[in-house]
Amino acid sequence: MITWKEYFEISKYQNMSESLQRQGLSQPPLEMPYAAATILIDLPDPHGIVLPKMDFVELLEKRESLRAYSDESLSVQEFSFLLWATQGVKEVNEKFTKRTVPSAGARHPFETYILVNNVEELKSGLYRYLALEHKLIMVNDSVDISQKVTEGCKMQKHVQNSALTFCWVADFQRMYWRYSERSLRYVMLDAGHVCQNLYLAAEAIQCGVCAIAAYDDDLMNAVLDLDGEAQFTAYIATLGRRA
Ligand SMILES: Cc1cc2nc3c(=O)[nH]c(=O)nc-3n(C[C@H](O)[C@H](O)[C@H](O)COP(=O)(O)O)c2cc1C
Repeated sequence: MITWKEYFEISKYQNMSESLQRQGLSQPPLEMPYAAATILIDLPDPHGIVLPKMDFVELLEKRESLRAYSDESLSVQEFSFLLWATQGVKEVNEKFTKRTVPSAGARHPFETYILVNNVEELKSGLYRYLALEHKLIMVNDSVDISQKVTEGCKMQKHVQNSALTFCWVADFQRMYWRYSERSLRYVMLDAGHVCQNLYLAAEAIQCGVCAIAAYDDDLMNAVLDLDGEAQFTAYIATLGRRA
């Protein structure tokens, strides 16, 4: 076990070990792999959404954490917009992506898992967003998945009542390859940007968000089928229509 002081010490630039990149090791893939036979679910073009005009200052004034949601479902178009706003890929080459959020060294270490409770035309369940393809895959459609994610979030009721709960998973090697010991700092900083975009995008479609960091790491990693080291739950947020 190391203390936070020791972590800050070993993650200073002058103390970091030589990165895997500098050692000449090849870069991890930009996206976690999925089985070739996986059924990909199409999403509408996120730019197809028609947003009500809203003053940016008003949007910032309105932003707050919302934990009570109406029963009204979201459209797939709105869901597509939220995925794009948080992780949408604007440019891609074999080395990096540019997205709607910033990321240290354009490493973009996240995979987005989404608990879908209430989206028109989409079966409830746990999905993964393929940012490069702008498509979804179904990960778990068992009837108790919403309950399991709620338990993982220490029984915070707004998870079960949300239309969507976003779970951002760090695929750590994508950051570690360049930043060795400093990577954990950057992953967590990156996560904040992603969630903030969700807060702002939600306001634009009359929805509200609540960030969640009070979750049980082991339970959440188990629900998302992650080993908790190479891939781990980094941040969670619930979202739903304003009551
Ligand atoms: C990193 C972080 C973790 C949070 N974790 C939780 C949480 O687990 N549960 C919760 O209800 N709210 C959580 N929140 C929301 C805060 O309680 C909320 O942002 C704060 O009370 C300020 O309120 P506001 O967002 O409405 O301005 C979290 C916020 C942040 C930024």
